Amino acid sequence: MMKRALITGIRGQDGAYLAQLLLEKGYDVYGADRRSSEAGFWRLRELGLEKQVKIIYMDLLEHTNVVDIIKKIQPDEVYNLAAQSFVKTSFEQPIFTAEVDAIGVLRILEALRYYRQEARFYQASTSEMFGKVQSMPQDEQTNFHPRSPYSIAKLFGHWVTINYRESYGMFCCSGILFNHESPLRGFEFVTRKITRSVAGIRHGREDRLVLGNLDAKRDWGYAPEYVYAMWLMLQHERPDDYVIATGETHSVREFTERAFDAAGIRIQWEGEGPESKGRDRKTGRVLVEVSPDFYRPAEVDILRGNPEKAIKVLGWEPKTRFDTLVQLMVEHDIRSLKP
Ligand code: NAP
Ligand code: GDD
Repeated sequence: MMKRALITGIRGQDGAYLAQLLLEKGYDVYGADRRSSEAGFWRLRELGLEKQVKIIYMDLLEHTNVVDIIKKIQPDEVYNLAAQSFVKTSFEQPIFTAEVDAIGVLRILEALRYYRQEARFYQASTSEMFGKVQSMPQDEQTNFHPRSPYSIAKLFGHWVTINYRESYGMFCCSGILFNHESPLRGFEFVTRKITRSVAGIRHGREDRLVLGNLDAKRDWGYAPEYVYAMWLMLQHERPDDYVIATGETHSVREFTERAFDAAGIRIQWEGEGPESKGRDRKTGRVLVEVSPDFYRPAEVDILRGNPEKAIKVLGWEPKTRFDTLVQLMVEHDIRSLKP
């Protein structure tokens, strides 16, 4: 019998890659969408999957809607990827973020508890929960210190997932995924903002790139490999929680420098903090500037994960390293912006 999977957040980066993986594995894939504009399906379109995923309308804010879908579809596996996922917006819309990212998880779990307890459940938790990091690198034992309404809401989602596993014996897993990027990444996130701008500058369509905190450090991996880890978690004999990361950390400044390198432009830095500038070494033209508009009220300065448990227990491994990731994103954006 064909397994039936329900993916929430189907329009997002991970939703598209996960749908692709599950379709390749022969699943019947239902994609839950909160119904906005048609244009939002650009990722599924880019992967040629638009007709293969069965789109259904489900908003995590609407309890009866969630219950109804779970009752109707009777999924074998549920991947909860839906979220207000942009950290900066969570400071502007903390209540909406909590409704979706915290209570939304509980709505799905309650629906499963009543109508489909045997389904396997994946919750998209995040390295942002480590926030002001308590030790280096971070693993499944590291204490949390969230620094944004987003990560506080996600922490609720993480713990309630564990609680439903412990209280009701449900097969619930929480994946603590570190940042993962790709050519399908949203344009508001720093990596894609950089690679898209570098491509624009390279084609003479943009003047400069304006960023926030250049010194923040992240553990950046490649999204298709991370959705594979989600699937592996739900195939294991026991439900558990796993850190998924590369084990390396790099700054926004390094990412920027590498991205310009990949476009054949060498950057020379000058100044500190908001006064930082990046100039084209050849022409002296300013290509990178800093604006406090992109700063956050509380920042996560550094993240570096330890994926040992996933490597040992799931046989997962990070393959795409930093340089290759930057290169592939820049090349994609240069190609796609070509006049
Ligand atoms: P994404 O591209 O922002 O996708 C999130 C999706 O959730 C969007 O398609 C959005 O729909 C949907 N959504 C938002 N509110 C909703 C609601 N009320 N009801 C139903 N759907 C709703 O995020 P992603 O990068 O693919 O990440 C997937 C998940 O992993 C998210 O939960 C994120 O927080 C988490 N995560 C991501 C990373 C990362 O580095 N990418 C790392 C750790 C954890 P619209 O398209 O209509 O806006
Ligand atoms: N977005 C953005 N835009 N970030 C900038 C900019 C800018 O212009 N300039 C500097 N940054 C810094 C941010 O301050 C942050 O420290 C870092 O770049 C990464 O920002 P984002 O790419 O927006 O990602 P994030 O780390 O805040 O959150 C992402 O990763 C989390 C996992 O750790 C999101 O995908 C979350 O949903 C995910 O949970």
